[in-house]
Amino acid sequence: MSQQNPAQARARIEAMKRQFEQKRQIDEALAGIKNKIGVYSGKGGVGKTTIAVNLAATLANDGARVGILDVDVDCPNVVRAINSFDQPMVGEDKKMIPPEKFGVKVMSMAFFQENEDEAIIWRGPMIHNAINQMLQSTDWGDLDYLIVDLPPGTSDAPLTIMQVLTMDGFIVVTTPQELAKVDAKRSINMVRKLQVNVLGVVENMSGGVFGEGAGKEIADELDLDFLGAIGLRSEYQDTSKPTSLLSNDVLNEYRSVSEKALAVLSST
Ligand SMILES: Nc1ncnc2c1ncn2[C@@H]1O[C@H](COP(=O)(O)OP(=O)(O)O)[C@@H](O)[C@H]1O
Ligand SMILES: [Mg+2]
Repeated sequence: MSQQNPAQARARIEAMKRQFEQKRQIDEALAGIKNKIGVYSGKGGVGKTTIAVNLAATLANDGARVGILDVDVDCPNVVRAINSFDQPMVGEDKKMIPPEKFGVKVMSMAFFQENEDEAIIWRGPMIHNAINQMLQSTDWGDLDYLIVDLPPGTSDAPLTIMQVLTMDGFIVVTTPQELAKVDAKRSINMVRKLQVNVLGVVENMSGGVFGEGAGKEIADELDLDFLGAIGLRSEYQDTSKPTSLLSNDVLNEYRSVSEKALAVLSST
């Protein structure tokens, strides 16, 4: 290693102190949350946001204290999917209090976008700073579950977020198609490299034209739990409420997935 002059050494120590302080503040802000569960997939459009929102709504419906955190930086769609357009309030301590919808506290990257249609090109350090800021300044209170809607893929964005926010477990979403299977396996391998806990695989849009079975196959091949199938249904077109609150069949699908996921979580 090259020699540092005293000014460089001081700057390095200051930077480390800042990082440490940031980490401490994040830990403090998240201290009241018992379980942080990420919802993740290799591809966009497989139903990650849908699963995150319906899982959160199902758990809240069944009496748990639940929050949802939307950190899909490029497509933060949770606000739309849960039909909640209230902005967070700012409390006395300058912390943001998430708005609540269907018993779920909602915090999203979308709150910080000027215009919904405008794409923000996020780079690694920007994502890092934005997530840090959001995590430090949100007052979640006490929660049983924080469901986190992650960006898809194996690029910078999901990696950065997984590094900043330590999750207790991940639910991986796939669809029944063969190509989705390849992506899902790739993304599971990435998540595993980060040594995070994969709770299992959910197959979304199961049945009908897409067929079924890829989720179970991936789970078997990678020695993971299969958490269940969520059927392809026209009911998802009604966006007034999370679909699990509109249909008992859907509610039961999500109950079954969450029971299995939580069983895996508590056994690890
Ligand atoms: N099981 C399902 N049946 C029917 N439509 C679904 C289902 N799951 C998701 N969708 C629809 O598919 C689209 C993409 O889902 P979304 O959750 O936004 O995917 P992602 O977050 O992975 O990009 C949305 O319009 C959603 O309503
Ligand atoms: Mg999404």
